[in-house]
Amino acid sequence: MRGGAKTKPTHFRQISWANMGSDVGLESSRRFLATWLIGGLVAGLSVAALTAAWPDLSPLNIVGRKKKKKKRPIRVYMDGCFDMMHYGHCNALRQARALGDQLIVGVVSDAEITANKGPPVTPLHERMLTVSAVKWVDEVIHDAPYAITEDFMRKLFDEYNIDYIIHGDDPCILPDGTDAYALAKKAGRYKQIKRTEGVSSTDIVGRMLLCVRERTSCESPSHASLQRQFSHGHKQKYDDGGSGSGTRVSHFLPTSRRIVQFSNGKAAGPNARIIYIDGAFDLFHAGHVEILRLARGLGDFLLVGIHTDQTVTANRGVHRPIMNLHERSLSVLACRYVDEVIIGAPWEISKDMITTFNISLVVHGTVAEDDDFEKDDRDPYEVPKSMEIFKVLESPLDITTSTIIKRIVSNHEAYQKRNERKGESERRYYEGKSYISGD
Ligand SMILES: *[C@@H]1O[C@H](CO)[C@@H](O)[C@H](O)[C@H]1NC(C)=O
Repeated sequence: MRGGAKTKPTHFRQISWANMGSDVGLESSRRFLATWLIGGLVAGLSVAALTAAWPDLSPLNIVGRKKKKKKRPIRVYMDGCFDMMHYGHCNALRQARALGDQLIVGVVSDAEITANKGPPVTPLHERMLTVSAVKWVDEVIHDAPYAITEDFMRKLFDEYNIDYIIHGDDPCILPDGTDAYALAKKAGRYKQIKRTEGVSSTDIVGRMLLCVRERTSCESPSHASLQRQFSHGHKQKYDDGGSGSGTRVSHFLPTSRRIVQFSNGKAAGPNARIIYIDGAFDLFHAGHVEILRLARGLGDFLLVGIHTDQTVTANRGVHRPIMNLHERSLSVLACRYVDEVIIGAPWEISKDMITTFNISLVVHGTVAEDDDFEKDDRDPYEVPKSMEIFKVLESPLDITTSTIIKRIVSNHEAYQKRNERKGESERRYYEGKSYISGD
């Protein structure tokens, strides 16, 4: 990888230089371009020749050589509750993984979460599934303490061979007022990553509670449309009149760079068997992970179609989706079983689409919220069914987005109280924040 990165920028620099020289005269810049092209070709050929003559220079062999010399990979550790995992968690894991060669993730147990901030929405086995499915995660530890202890830190260093402990740029203060990472910092084995802007579990729970409050007390059109705009990620203020968590602002700004960072960037190989699955993938959960794993197992390349916000709203009602199209796309992209996503897939699968992507098989899980289509006059899977390339997959887990929302609703008051506290500290963060470089 590094070898490729070294040659490319030189070429780019030459190109921009050639462009800047346009006022020197067309003829000279043409000559320059020709020289550059030939030079590039020669350089390219000589790199190819070198690689052929000394195979050790190719990136793969450099890795191989490291192994032969028994150079240990750098192991980095990050922990968290990962309750209702979202793309902010995924981005933190991506950043952490970039600081080493192997990422080991500590997931906090249900008992520890309950003792420290009340019961988690998603039980440990589901959180383990969603964390393990993130493509930047190499190993998972299932009994991390809520606040890192000195004993556990020593265990990480001595038993798990961790080189660095990674944490976000928010301070982590223990009940006794000391810095939780003081020991790791003193040992020079602490590294920090930048907070992911735009999303937090507090914010997502807020969106769900908002949707519940509205449905029970104020089903007025203005509130419904406010909620819709809000859930679609627009910068919208929502004042709930002092009864709950106060003003909520969605800070998510999707950028092309973030999508590139999350994407594999790989096309399907020649003769690849391409599997297609579509859906809303709202509040990405363990049920999604498991059906994607099964689907990927049926071929060589998994293409996931993510329905637009409008499509989801039309099928599930004005309170859905909770996460907007871009947020849902990032969560799906972070999943190791996914090769590519269509950001805004059509509801009906056409013959043209099947040809365009060379789809071999279209699959659909048995546990899905959009099964009302059976009653619809038009079946979205009519074309693949008629082509006999449609398969129903038995969903391994009985969880839907509604399951998650119901869990929140049944614990409504506890979550609302927790959210008010956390909402306050987040408000302070946004008020005091300043620009920090890095990604
Ligand atoms: C399209 O997919 C099939 C597998 O279903 C594969 O055999 C074929 O080579 C693919 N076509 C191309 C052009 O890759």
